[in-house]
Amino acid sequence: MRIHPVEASEIFNALPDIGQVTVASPSNIALVKYWGKRPIQLPENPSVSFTLDACRTVTTLSYKKIATPSDQIDFEVLFDGVSKAAFKPKIAKFLERIKEYVPWITAFRFTIDTRNTFPHSSGIASSASGMSALALCLMQLERSVLGKMNEVAFQQKVSYLARLGSGSACRSTLGPMMVWGRHDQLEGSTDQFAVKYPLTIHEVFKSYHDTILLIDKGEKQVSSTVGHDLMHGHPFASQRFEQAHANMNRLITIFAEGDLDGFIEVVESEALTLHAMMMTSLPYFILMKPHTLTVINKVWSYRKTTGAKLCFTLDAGANVHLLYPENEREEIMKFIQSELTQYCQNGHYICDKVGLGAKIV
Ligand code: PMV
Repeated sequence: MRIHPVEASEIFNALPDIGQVTVASPSNIALVKYWGKRPIQLPENPSVSFTLDACRTVTTLSYKKIATPSDQIDFEVLFDGVSKAAFKPKIAKFLERIKEYVPWITAFRFTIDTRNTFPHSSGIASSASGMSALALCLMQLERSVLGKMNEVAFQQKVSYLARLGSGSACRSTLGPMMVWGRHDQLEGSTDQFAVKYPLTIHEVFKSYHDTILLIDKGEKQVSSTVGHDLMHGHPFASQRFEQAHANMNRLITIFAEGDLDGFIEVVESEALTLHAMMMTSLPYFILMKPHTLTVINKVWSYRKTTGAKLCFTLDAGANVHLLYPENEREEIMKFIQSELTQYCQNGHYICDKVGLGAKIV
């Protein structure tokens, strides 16, 4: 499937002179991890994620037509209402990349006013929520002019554009679960954009909780770009990509049957494999901190003594995502508060849950 660019001439004349659109888009947490890519932002293996709800980026895109469009894309970025030059290079690269699919963007001067509902320096990547928010803003503007896009094609293009900003961003557009990357058992799955998980999802997963323990709020030691690159020539790369396919396969039955023990096994194994890949690359990295390991061990012994269906997953950092079903929320929250939050930096954690994706506000 290919995303077709809109003919510039088809849209230029119809573009509004001035206006704005606001979008709120969530973060997502991968259950099977994407780690390793080929140009441009295409995944080496399929991944599946829970779309989140509380951790969001809210972006207002203001646009004003310019008298003589040039090839340069004219924009400024505000973060929490203050000009943020540091964000410009990444957004400039994104806009350059997507220009061939939305050529009309050169007709405007944009102000991209963005803020996150989660603390800026929390160690939570804002690229997934931020890039998906911006992609939806632009597509909403395109749709307001063309007015005739079918919803499926619209969503595919939002996700396709978001992917070009940050790979995992393509999985934030809809929910509750998104698949990105071709998998032979999942019809409609593609490397080009994420789609809603197409098979049966047991009710238990539709209200799953994710409590994020902020173990270390510092800047990441390794950017995900560098991390993905380290999978080129990695001694275990091909086994890892095969394992991701096999784990996706296992999850098909687990998701359909609500098999929480199976879910725990696949999800924790995926998290540890992601970190194992970093530990066995050259150069090698350890992104977990001592408190990450303490929390993991406490989760394991709590599960052993209580039988609670609590498990963890990790991103490319030290923070721990604790996943558990709604019907165990009260008990598990008591455990988290009494036993685990002491290992969070300044005691900080975020309560999130599965959500439905980016929304126009
Ligand atoms: O989207 P990126 O390039 O920041 O990569 C994200 C990679 C992981 O978060 C570690 C895994 C994933 O699938 O989200």
